[in-house]
Amino acid sequence: MQACYITGQLPATPVQFQLPARIPIISRIKRSMFCARAESSINLGPELDVSTLDCSNRMFILGMGYVGQFFAKDLLRQGWVVSGTCTNSIKKKELEQKGFNIHLLDAYNLEWKITQILKHYTHLLVCIPPVVGIGDLMLQQEEFLKSRLVDGNLQWLCYLSSTSVYGDCKGAWVNEDYPPNPSGKLAELRLDAEEGWLRLGADLGISAHVFRLGGIYGPGRSAIDTILKQEPLSEGQKRRTSKNYTSRVHIADICQALKASIFMPTSRKIYNIVDDDPASREEVFEFAQQLIQKRWDALTERTDLSNGADVPEAERIPVGEKRVSNALMKEELGVRLLHPTYRSGLQTILDHMNGHPFCYAI
Ligand SMILES: NC(=O)c1ccc[n+]([C@@H]2O[C@H](COP(=O)([O-])OP(=O)(O)OC[C@H]3O[C@@H](n4cnc5c(N)ncnc54)[C@H](OP(=O)(O)O)[C@@H]3O)[C@@H](O)[C@H]2O)c1
Repeated sequence: MQACYITGQLPATPVQFQLPARIPIISRIKRSMFCARAESSINLGPELDVSTLDCSNRMFILGMGYVGQFFAKDLLRQGWVVSGTCTNSIKKKELEQKGFNIHLLDAYNLEWKITQILKHYTHLLVCIPPVVGIGDLMLQQEEFLKSRLVDGNLQWLCYLSSTSVYGDCKGAWVNEDYPPNPSGKLAELRLDAEEGWLRLGADLGISAHVFRLGGIYGPGRSAIDTILKQEPLSEGQKRRTSKNYTSRVHIADICQALKASIFMPTSRKIYNIVDDDPASREEVFEFAQQLIQKRWDALTERTDLSNGADVPEAERIPVGEKRVSNALMKEELGVRLLHPTYRSGLQTILDHMNGHPFCYAI
């Protein structure tokens, strides 16, 4: 029987840092400098039969990507039963080696089997993004999903959305009551997906939330990692460099907010999950560069942050200027941000690099 630890309090455990999924090739850092992976494994086994477990906290994560893995690890350490999905068998194997219970899911073809498994879980986190031209893949079969879950154990669901649904607000502060005005196709589909998941939650009679996340960063995915990998900015990034304000949030604070919404139920459906400091990307990269140079002076060349100046005006992506307010997240969910600004977030990421770039202390 799976032991289960249930608490009404927000756990104060620090986030557990992971190594990034792929080790970057940096010519100036020898292979031997990389640390070995040192993760503790809480192996529930690939063929976990949840219906036989006596545990009232069971989380199913649709899409074990960046957020899914961090959150899963956090919950596992607190005694939850956690399972999740990915799309291919290589990743499934990798995730199972990390101790996760994983099911393959191609959301283009939602199968009876996965819904049969899902209905044994009490909580559902949706991390799969919508697809342009289609929308939310799971909700393409909303009625089927509803019919499968209606007599199940689900009590809570949360759909991870994006602050992109607000569109361009000319730099104004926006809260959850600000009328969404998505300016691109994907953001429109996000809004549809938000409505769909809230509708499903209401139809099932369960607690359902939408979290509008700012740009997600954390160990393995941050300005520090981008600079150390010496990756050029993507075309999309270049076209967005002129943005004055970018909402962002550290992965540890997303996990905090998720747990808060589980343990402190509220009637509100939608929350902005962002930090206090919607600084420009240039400012964040400049700070990351300074941190790196202080730590490994001889190691890195300065990354050219002027990229984008050569992008023709017509090709620039609408920047959607806004400053997203997190007041409700603090007032109603009681979240006290671990990283109110990118400064503490990046500093912590650097501090947990165990002596060498890309080696995170566990
Ligand atoms: N990145 C940001 O800054 C940001 C900001 C705001 C909101 N968001 C949104 O927040 C959510 C979580 O973010 P994240 O960074 O954790 O995303 P992520 O790392 O990209 O993970 C997405 C997950 O969705 C799964 N997925 C994608 N297509 C699928 C399909 N056809 N069928 C089944 N599963 C599929 C992926 O499967 P595999 O594991 O097999 O790849 C992956 O597990 C996403 O919706 C993301 O778009 C992201």
